[in-house]
Amino acid sequence: MARMAAHKIIIDTDPGQDDAVAILLALASPELDVLALTCVAGNVPLDLTTCNARKIAELAGRPDLPIYAGCDRPLARPLVTAEQVHGASGLDGPDLPEPSMPLAKGHGVDFIVDTVRREAPGTVTLVAIGPLTNVATALTRAPDISARLGRIVLMGGAHFAGGNVTPAAEFNIHVDPHAAKLVFACGAPLTVLPLDVTYKALVTPARTTAFRDIGTPVGTAVAALTDAPHRHNTEKFGAPGVPLHDPCTITYLLRPDLFRGRHINVEVETGSDLTLGMTVADWWGVTTRAPNATFLTEVDADALFSLLTERLARL
Ligand code: RIB
Ligand code: CA
Repeated sequence: MARMAAHKIIIDTDPGQDDAVAILLALASPELDVLALTCVAGNVPLDLTTCNARKIAELAGRPDLPIYAGCDRPLARPLVTAEQVHGASGLDGPDLPEPSMPLAKGHGVDFIVDTVRREAPGTVTLVAIGPLTNVATALTRAPDISARLGRIVLMGGAHFAGGNVTPAAEFNIHVDPHAAKLVFACGAPLTVLPLDVTYKALVTPARTTAFRDIGTPVGTAVAALTDAPHRHNTEKFGAPGVPLHDPCTITYLLRPDLFRGRHINVEVETGSDLTLGMTVADWWGVTTRAPNATFLTEVDADALFSLLTERLARL
């Protein structure tokens, strides 16, 4: 049987410990053709997210992977970072060497626009796992790409789960709510993995041990990455583990059958100080607003982690 053509993806990212695991999963999966990483300011400033992205690519044995610097601040707000979760470096846990690979020449937004315009319509998926500044800037600069994109799969937002950076807002959306508002209105097919689903993908100590038992530099690094924020999460959320947010997006691309959700309308609050960055999800269909996003709230976490562990062992 002819092999399925690999699924072309661009990962827009602010690594970030969970971003790192998502990138490793993507690079370990032959179903996915990772065209490039485009970096954005988020968990830590842009100079660190671009450094961390290269550290992760080299850890995966991919010094050839094109990695671009993108936007260094949100569209209309000061940058808010998350060193309290990811550490000052943004990649606390493993001791990874400084990268030797260079950044790709050019801006990440231009790469997104040029690539989507070059590739056949509908063949490129944009996986956004940080603030949506690069994605929104690309859509503003080239509105035509929203009709050419296969899909935007993003980690962000929350409904029943509430916010993780304010009572109302999840970090990626809160950092750049104006960008998020634009992305949710762009018309491209949108799959959203909010905190409602990522809080069910908890790295328990047993799952961290499974990563460590892979016995490779990647397995050891992922165990260290997922163990590091453990203190933060148990102290703050009293959770039995660390939510593994960003890898849910890549897992969805590999195994969409592991997820459940609804196609609903989701809008983003940009006017209220109290609820800035809130994703207002019309889960019960009480408005006449047209559905614009597949909003996922359930995942088979055991299957996610066995897939993740199996794939990481391939690197
Ligand atoms: O709220 C979780 C999201 O914010 C994840 O993408 C994490 O990496 C941070 O960017
Ligand atoms: Ca992220």
